[in-house]
Amino acid sequence: MGLQRSTLITRIGELITNEGGGFAAITDGALVIEDGTVAWTGPAEKAPAADSVVDAGGRAVLPGFVDSHAHLVFAGERSAEFAARMAGRPYQAGGILTTVAATRAASDTELRANLRRLAAEMLRQGTTTFECKSGYGLTVADEARGLALAAEVTPEVTYLGAHVVPPEFAGDVAGYVDLVRGPMLAACAPHARWIDVFCEDGAFGADEAAAILAAGRARGLGPRIHANQLGPGPGVRVAAEAGAASADHCTYLSPEDVDAIVSAPLVATLLPGAEFGTRHPYPDARRLLDAGAVVALATDCNPGSSFTSSMAFCIALAVRDMRMTTQEAVWAATAGGARALRRPDVGHLGVGARADLILLDAPSHAYLAYRPGVPLVTAVWQSGRLTAGTLP
Ligand code: NIG
Ligand code: FE
Repeated sequence: MGLQRSTLITRIGELITNEGGGFAAITDGALVIEDGTVAWTGPAEKAPAADSVVDAGGRAVLPGFVDSHAHLVFAGERSAEFAARMAGRPYQAGGILTTVAATRAASDTELRANLRRLAAEMLRQGTTTFECKSGYGLTVADEARGLALAAEVTPEVTYLGAHVVPPEFAGDVAGYVDLVRGPMLAACAPHARWIDVFCEDGAFGADEAAAILAAGRARGLGPRIHANQLGPGPGVRVAAEAGAASADHCTYLSPEDVDAIVSAPLVATLLPGAEFGTRHPYPDARRLLDAGAVVALATDCNPGSSFTSSMAFCIALAVRDMRMTTQEAVWAATAGGARALRRPDVGHLGVGARADLILLDAPSHAYLAYRPGVPLVTAVWQSGRLTAGTLP
């Protein structure tokens, strides 16, 4: 390895650092990258010299997005189901089985190609860290291969054998739960960091979810959960009792659920792409924030409920329809996601953070919501290397 050169990015109109825990920004800022990490941030006129210089020309620089909830290992698509929903049909958890059948039938090569295409799509749009779940295999071999493929593209791999009960276990939920927390877990745990359960009517109940998360924990996996997505239910309570990092969806919350999120504490990961794609009401972000909860935003990218890989789209929905401020939404999509994944090295640009950052073709973070649907991310750095886009 040769000597790492330092890079100065200067004349940054708005540099979002998220230093000090909350949203934080420097106007007319600069940043120095060295050895793949952030070595210095401050006002542009005080910037130190560096080996190379990038002139941001007044544009905004942000931490790369941290998408803490995505289902990218699958085959096939469900556009007809989406179209039917938009014409009035309700979303049903059972649609997952359509994708399970397609995924089981797919070769490793097909699954890998689809996964890599989506990962590249995320990167181009500024996502520098993402979580990836299994959950469309639902046999020991298919879950294990899904996780092994996911581990090729991200360290944030989540075992979701408990997505739904597969057809061969119809009428024998207990038998499937035993498989998920027994032999399937044994085959999957070596590939994963996290374990997740879809706790919902039509998927898994409170006791089943608690048993599965406890088994995962005993194998060293960190619990997380799909909770309260399609209706009120026990998911948030189960997550709090399991010591989960995050409760995801949080669309239908009781006052007790909000208290549990704040006091556990659990990150409340909101996935507005799913409400967009299912016509459920958006989660009440304002209520959670006003209660003192830590909120993350993620895409839930999957072929059924939310086939978007765009964190910017989720920010726009959160600002327009969930009454988050532009600052809260951008924080939730960066530092919030990092909290949900317990990753102190990403989601902010404090000195020592990984130099994962994005340059917008816009002067401020607000443009992510102000210009919805417009691809504003022009350059992406990961660990200080330009990995997508072009320099101005
Ligand atoms: O997060 N809720 C469960 N899983 C996905 C949907 C998966 C699908 O419909 O294929 C979700 O919305
Ligand atoms: Fe999901």
